[in-house]
Amino acid sequence: VTDDGVREFDLDLTRGTADLGHGPGTEVWGVDGGYLGPTVRAHRDEQVRVNVTNGLGETSTLHWHGMRVPAAMDGGPHQMIADGETWSPQWRIDQPAATLWYHPHLHGATAEHVYRGVAGLFLVDDEAPGDGLPDRYGIDDVPVIVQDKNFDGDRLDTGISALSGVGILGEEILVNGTPGPYLDVTTQALRLRLLNASTARVYDFGLYDEDGGARPYEVVATDGGLLEAPVPRERLMLSPGERAEIVVRVDPDDRLVLRSTPPDLGTDIFHTRFAGGADSFDVLELRAAGELAPSPPLPPRLRAADPAPDDPAEIRRFALANNRINGEAMDMSRIDAVVRAGSTEVWEVTNEDGLPHNFHVHDVQFEVLGTDDAVLRGRKDTVWIPAGDTRRLLVRFGDHVDPETPYMFHCHILYHEDAGMMGQFVVV
Ligand code: C2O
Ligand code: CU
Ligand code: CU
Repeated sequence: VTDDGVREFDLDLTRGTADLGHGPGTEVWGVDGGYLGPTVRAHRDEQVRVNVTNGLGETSTLHWHGMRVPAAMDGGPHQMIADGETWSPQWRIDQPAATLWYHPHLHGATAEHVYRGVAGLFLVDDEAPGDGLPDRYGIDDVPVIVQDKNFDGDRLDTGISALSGVGILGEEILVNGTPGPYLDVTTQALRLRLLNASTARVYDFGLYDEDGGARPYEVVATDGGLLEAPVPRERLMLSPGERAEIVVRVDPDDRLVLRSTPPDLGTDIFHTRFAGGADSFDVLELRAAGELAPSPPLPPRLRAADPAPDDPAEIRRFALANNRINGEAMDMSRIDAVVRAGSTEVWEVTNEDGLPHNFHVHDVQFEVLGTDDAVLRGRKDTVWIPAGDTRRLLVRFGDHVDPETPYMFHCHILYHEDAGMMGQFVVV
């Protein structure tokens, strides 16, 4: 914390080498010479400043995914950081506790920069209820950043399968940059903060015992923070950019595996097969100790209900098809929507071409309308849009007025985003 009360972080974007399971010499991008970056953590109402120094050898950006932040601090394609430069955005954390993340966001090359390893978690804390949730970082509160990779010898293979339609789909899984990972569990309850930081792959996460039996867990948080109450589940689908926090109860000597089974992409047979809809992966093994430290039971309520929203000021429609939104490819100089500060709108997002798509909006957490899925009703900034279907999103905009600097909305399958499935809005 600096003299002026600002909590300050330094993130040096670098090229380096790491062992991703194919020898020590794999060239990677990340922070401070490694693959991925450190977990950044700050408290609600704190002023933060992040000094982002770009040593990648080419222009990049760093975006705070899920963060309510002034548009000029957002780190999207309008805040480019030239090689060798430092960019120091500053803002006040103004949202509930949540698992957010950071990653580059330059127009046309986001997929490559994320895939090579520039990404990390940004955790927001607050005084929230939710007491009783495991909260000892690295012990019973553990980040699980899931990514898929391909290798060519000891090199990261950035080749794109033309058939996939979604860009790079890796055949190997890394968790926090580690291949074949396991976690020693020492407590009766374990909180996993899941982030799908893959460029294109969709996962359907379940927990299984050694006999393959499903072990139910409790979902306690989505993209933007805690659910009102824990939701018991056996499976949870996360598309690129989405997060969820789950709490698992284990018994002494348990051997469990977090596994992704084929996600229901809802696409035709061809796309299901080539876009990863038939794939299974063991993601993370949990090895419980013979004796476990006691953990309190989960609180039955995690937070108060949100106040009833205002009537929507506007209803807008967004059709996703052919790497376009409403027929238009991303144009840095075109503003697609002008919204009023503090207003509420309904955004109706349709997957028109039947390919895998999701939808992410900067600066906000929205509510998905018309669903009885208790997990989907949590605070979201990224949501799966099923093939041929429409999701209605209730979006409450922030009050960082800036008519000159747009925020982005886009499909978070990064190959689609890079190809133009992105638009811009300003808050006035
Ligand atoms: Cu995760 Cu527009 O970004
Ligand atoms: Cu974002
Ligand atoms: Cu898409």
